[in-house]
Amino acid sequence: MRENTAKATLDFFQLEGQSAIVTGAGNGIGRSVALILAGLGAKVAVCDIEADSAVAVVREIEEKGGTAIACPCNVCLLEDVKKTVEATVNAFGTVDILVNNAGGGGGGKRLEDMTYPEWDRLIQLNLTSAYMFSMEVLPCMRKQKRGKICNVSSGAGIVGDFSDVHYAASKAGMLGMTKEMARELAKDHINVNALGTGLTDTRMSRRRGLEQASKEILWPRVGTPEDQAYSIVFLVSEAAEYLTGQMICPNGGSWM
Ligand SMILES: NC(=O)c1ccc[n+]([C@@H]2O[C@H](COP(=O)([O-])OP(=O)(O)OC[C@H]3O[C@@H](n4cnc5c(N)ncnc54)[C@H](O)[C@@H]3O)[C@@H](O)[C@H]2O)c1
Repeated sequence: MRENTAKATLDFFQLEGQSAIVTGAGNGIGRSVALILAGLGAKVAVCDIEADSAVAVVREIEEKGGTAIACPCNVCLLEDVKKTVEATVNAFGTVDILVNNAGGGGGGKRLEDMTYPEWDRLIQLNLTSAYMFSMEVLPCMRKQKRGKICNVSSGAGIVGDFSDVHYAASKAGMLGMTKEMARELAKDHINVNALGTGLTDTRMSRRRGLEQASKEILWPRVGTPEDQAYSIVFLVSEAAEYLTGQMICPNGGSWM
């Protein structure tokens, strides 16, 4: 009996036959998500502006027996977004899972150093891109009455982080978008959730410096890409069927 329950629970994490798009999957958190999703049986579209990185992740997945395609794509361009969704549907038949992960930091700009073009650039990269990808996968998800969208937000969008007003605004915007889309899409069995990502050791956070930021973390280490990926994978799995419009924060207790 106990064994059956355990197996039934683990089955919720089986993604055999499902198709996923992960943006910014060439490095860091996105790469880790792509590898784990593929390991659980999903066919993965590895989307990144760095074509070489996307191809390298696809190779890694294939070497482990998984299925993936590389989609070189600038998530800021609607044309590229449409091409990526089209390529995924052509290769795998549909899109079941979308992880809006591609994004970048603002370079630690204080208000006095900000410019309007810089504001527009980062909002486009971190927020509008996620909106465009979500809108482009909706026809598939609505048609099949099933879909999972996970938006990779940030603690900066919840509690701020003392710099980069445009970064904090873009990540807070993702949370508002998550809730609104969750409300409108629940009737179609489409879950929309967000990750309140804590400080994670990646290329992006290293650019800004991990040492100062990691002082807020209670857990005695900095987060890894896998720490974030496990929560994302939960959010896009059947185990999270009844969870929508929510955010989970793998942050080592940085904020509560
Ligand atoms: N690392 C952290 O501490 C941290 C904290 C909070 C939130 N996040 C968020 O996590 C997400 C992933 O970041 P990461 O830390 O893994 O960084 P990363 O730099 O390791 O990976 C980001 C990936 O996105 C890709 N990318 C950048 N611009 C793109 C574009 N225009 N089109 C397509 N791909 C593009 C990059 O090439 C890269 O492969 C980001 O949205 C980031 O804001 C990270």
